[in-house]
Amino acid sequence: MQITVVHHPLLQVKMSVLRDLNTNCPTFRRVIGEVAMLLTFEATKNIPLETHTVTTPLAETIGHSIKGTVNVIPILRAGLGFLEGVLSVLPEANVGPIGMARDEETLEPVEYYCKIPKDLNAYNIVVDPMLATGGSAVAAINQLKKRGLKNITFMCLVAAPEGVKRLNEAHPDVPIIAAALDDHLNEKGYIVPGLGDAGDRIFGTV
Ligand code: PRP
Ligand code: URA
Repeated sequence: MQITVVHHPLLQVKMSVLRDLNTNCPTFRRVIGEVAMLLTFEATKNIPLETHTVTTPLAETIGHSIKGTVNVIPILRAGLGFLEGVLSVLPEANVGPIGMARDEETLEPVEYYCKIPKDLNAYNIVVDPMLATGGSAVAAINQLKKRGLKNITFMCLVAAPEGVKRLNEAHPDVPIIAAALDDHLNEKGYIVPGLGDAGDRIFGTV
C-alpha cells in the first residue's frame, strides 16, 4: 500500500479528540482545521518553488515563493471542513469543489457538483476527511484527470485499507497523505475505529 501516515505527536493528540464521540461540533470543527493545517505541510513537501532576491535589514539573500498555482479541491461536503486549515497556510490557493454523495445502499459515489480551476499546470490537493471504500476519491480524481489536471495529491484524516488499495490501483501516481490508517470497514462502509460520519460531525447534522 502506498500511503504516508503522518505520526506527529500533535496530530495523534488532535486525532484522539476527533475520534471521541463526546467531542462537540464546535470543537470538532476547530480541531479538524488544525489537523488540516498540519497535514498540509506533508502534502506540499514537493511543491515547486522559485527563487528571488529578498533584502533583509542587513543584507540581500535568496528568498522563495511557490512556482505556479495551487488548487485545493474539497470533496463536498465533508472536505469543506479542511478548507480553512489548508488555506491558512496556502492563502493564494484556488478552490475547486467537487460534490460527491455516497449512495447508502451501493456505497458508490454520486456526483452532484464540479467547478474545477482550469490551470492545467497547477499543483492539486484533493481533500476529504475520510477515505473509506475509496469510491469518492477515485471519482473526484477521475474528474480532475478528465479535464487534463496532473500533479495531484490526496489528503485525508482517516484512511481504510480498502480505500487505499482502490485509490492506489486506480491512480498509482497520486500520493495519499493521512493522519491515520485504520483497521477495516464495517458492513455499512464506515471506517473502524474511525470517527463516525465526518460530514455530520462537521455540520452538526448528527
Ligand atoms: C463521506 C466522506 C467521503 C466519503 C468516503 O462523504 O466525506 O466523501 O464518504 O467514502 P468512500 O471512500 O466510501 O467514497 P458522504 O458521502 O457521507 O457525504 P458528505 O460529505 O456530504 O457527508
Ligand atoms: N464517510 C464517513 O464520514 N465516515 C466513514 O467512516 C466512512 C465514510
